[in-house]
Amino acid sequence: PAIRLEDYRPPAYRIDKVHLNVLLEPAATKVTATLSFARAASTEEGTPLVLDGDELTLTGLKLNGEDLPQTAYAATPDRLEIQNPPAAPFELTIETEINPDTNTKLMGLFRSSRTFCTQCEAEGFRRITYFLDRPDVLAVYTTRIEASKAECPVLLGNGNLVETGTVDGTDRHYALWHDPHPKPAYLFALVAGDLAQVPDRFTTASGKEVALNIYVEHGKETLCAWAMDSLKRSMRWDEEVFGREYDLDVFNIVAVSDFNMGAMENKGLNIFNDKYVLADPETATDQDYANIEAVIAHEYFHNWTGNRITCRDWFQLCLKEGLTVFRDQEFSADMRSRPVKRIADVSLLKSHQFPEDAGPLAHPVRPRLYHEINNFYTATVYEKGAEVVRMLKTLLGGEEFRAGLDLYFQRHDGEATTIEAFLACFEDAAGIDLSQFALWYDQAGTPVVTVKTHHDPERQTFCVSLSQEIPPVPGQKSSKPAVIPLRFGLLGPNGEDMEITAPAEGARIAGDVIVLEKAQQEVTFRNIPSAPVLSLLRDFSAPVRLDHKLTLEELQFQAAQDSDPFNRWQAVQTLAMQDLVRLAGLIRKGQPGVPSEDVIRVFGSVLSDMSLDAQLKAQALTLPSEADIAQEIGKNVDPDAVHAARRLLRQAVSRQHGDAFLAVVTGLSGDGAYSPNAAAAGKRALSNRALYYYAATGSPDAAELVWERFSAADNMTDRLAALTLLVHDHMPRETEALDRYKARHETNSLAMDKWFMVQATAPGEETLAKVRALMSQPLYDAGNPNRVRALLQSFATGNPTQFARADGAGFELIAESILEIDKRNPQVASRLLTSFRSWRALDPQRSALAESALLRVSSCEDLSRDSRDIVDRTLQ
Ligand code: ARG
Ligand code: ZN
Repeated sequence: PAIRLEDYRPPAYRIDKVHLNVLLEPAATKVTATLSFARAASTEEGTPLVLDGDELTLTGLKLNGEDLPQTAYAATPDRLEIQNPPAAPFELTIETEINPDTNTKLMGLFRSSRTFCTQCEAEGFRRITYFLDRPDVLAVYTTRIEASKAECPVLLGNGNLVETGTVDGTDRHYALWHDPHPKPAYLFALVAGDLAQVPDRFTTASGKEVALNIYVEHGKETLCAWAMDSLKRSMRWDEEVFGREYDLDVFNIVAVSDFNMGAMENKGLNIFNDKYVLADPETATDQDYANIEAVIAHEYFHNWTGNRITCRDWFQLCLKEGLTVFRDQEFSADMRSRPVKRIADVSLLKSHQFPEDAGPLAHPVRPRLYHEINNFYTATVYEKGAEVVRMLKTLLGGEEFRAGLDLYFQRHDGEATTIEAFLACFEDAAGIDLSQFALWYDQAGTPVVTVKTHHDPERQTFCVSLSQEIPPVPGQKSSKPAVIPLRFGLLGPNGEDMEITAPAEGARIAGDVIVLEKAQQEVTFRNIPSAPVLSLLRDFSAPVRLDHKLTLEELQFQAAQDSDPFNRWQAVQTLAMQDLVRLAGLIRKGQPGVPSEDVIRVFGSVLSDMSLDAQLKAQALTLPSEADIAQEIGKNVDPDAVHAARRLLRQAVSRQHGDAFLAVVTGLSGDGAYSPNAAAAGKRALSNRALYYYAATGSPDAAELVWERFSAADNMTDRLAALTLLVHDHMPRETEALDRYKARHETNSLAMDKWFMVQATAPGEETLAKVRALMSQPLYDAGNPNRVRALLQSFATGNPTQFARADGAGFELIAESILEIDKRNPQVASRLLTSFRSWRALDPQRSALAESALLRVSSCEDLSRDSRDIVDRTLQ
């Protein structure tokens, strides 16, 4: 059944208070929920009360303390209906029995390595008890958790700890937690297990003491230091930048090893996939450190954007996710390098969100319809949602943006609200009309902005013609013009931005931003004596595709001179991309491809440019991925040709600049003790990028150096970079390296995930058989989402030539795995299914094979709702 935004109705009943008594047993946990209901003023007396359930067994039911006769209610595993509830406020006491041990969906209450834990977003609470499981039902929760003292010495709930004690005459104990902040059920959590506690403390700006704890498996305490440090920096930053203080006596984080997503912002009790908590130099890469910092911040920031102010319904998911991603991006930018962070975020947007927006799974940032809400935790809701908030800031300016957010926190604290209410705060604070801007939430697809420029030396004018259009998207044939902020500069002959002395005509220009508001606009700048190079979309000021045909000379100029680091990076990438697309086209036709000398030269200049910081250099020297190139080609894609083109350019760059790369590798190696900070990480990124090119010379010296870097590495970043080269370039000691790595990290599953991933993403025919063999490796576990992502998801999304093999065997492997996984964990299966989303862009032979794999999945009759939804939309 489709759920539609337009069908939203406020709940007929409220739940003001929830009292839970949870008697934990691995196979038979008893839950008693005492719920205080009140009829909404607009609800007629006697209106039936319908509660949500999911695979529940009802074992008892009382109304105001009295057993309810069987004729007064109807219970099924997924629904409890009370036919004629009292007119006045009443209390229901609901007893259910659930089995955490067999809960392989990892939604609701489940066990991960013997630890009881929960995941309730979006609709997991209904797997614990019958409830009005919707985000606009806000209640105050008190939770009593009882378990065996020996098995579960640690008992955690939301809010503040009120009381602990033992249960007389048993080996059990309990803890009573109270959360004073009303919250929707999706923010409920509990944890019970034998965990080590890593304590710390934080004093808020107003002087309130907060106890901080990270709970992990025993023996992993030393791996929590970075996460704790990130948490304290997040708390301080949110006070300083957004004026947001923490609001409970305690903030707990728990790391678990079986988790469907990254982490969850449950009030006062965040639960994390352990890969976003645990780190030391031996097992975590610099990217892992950066991810931990970002995810810890993200979940913490949800305390205000998500928890204190939540969503009225799930269509408003971007209200909390887009805004919170924007906040965590800004945090990381402040902690590290702003341009480096921006480039990383835009790369992610282009590689994940753009293809989503261009394929069968395209949807607006705020969808209007869903079958399964879990399928809408997407790059569009998260990443494009963050871009929309960023545009708002660009259009309003920092001060008015902050004023609007302050008003939002003040006006809607304690509420479940909407995008309209959010935008109204900015309209009121800044005195503007955002009705056209709001289209960003409602229109799917990536707008294409086409740009043409003309300089008239006689009249000294520079004209910029702009037009915008969204290509047709499933279910959206036409679109309206959006408000597109285009940050720009006019590069003069000396490379500096020209001064704009006369007001431009034809568009609203705010500072260095042209605001494109119509389908077509022509902007004229006066007093421009010589033709400038237009640097447009600086800092990627809007999530659009730019169709702006610059000449080779102009791009080279921009790559060398643009004062905007993002556009310098973009110019290098555009040059490389153009050449890669050209080469792939030639290879496709069986013609020899020769990489452009100009592009090779630009790579050399980037490498030798002393003004660039190391991480920026590494980013600029990163070739567009095979998936990015395929996306640029757009149709009739032959992944083998794409792969060959990329190889060719890498080798040509390597041949030309091999010595310079070698000098960088040796020059940056091994100075001092490991630090995860941005500067040290930047140096490692650059030296490993240089190693990547130097290795492509194919010389015995290069193979020796890579082996040597692998063996001597004193940190995971360098070890994994070298291992990847050994395996992906099929160097002589490939197998030996894999074996050594395995021997070293066998007992650490997160480190072994990298071992699976490196092998799954290796180019070459033999990878498919390898992946199959790895699936029966004892260290592989099809029930653990991280393992599945490391092996199968990375094969399907990070190995285009093998996933889309011309014999169809790659698609078959993934289709077969999806059917297997779907029976146990629908969310993991449906995520894996999305790797087929660009199937129609492949060449006819491959797309036919992809289609038959999809049809095979689709023909399964008892597919989960999650997978059914994705497969239907992908095939439609
Ligand atoms: N709210 C969590 C976060 O962004 C993610 C929850 C994902 N839930 C899901 N059903 N996929 O931090
Ligand atoms: Zn989030």
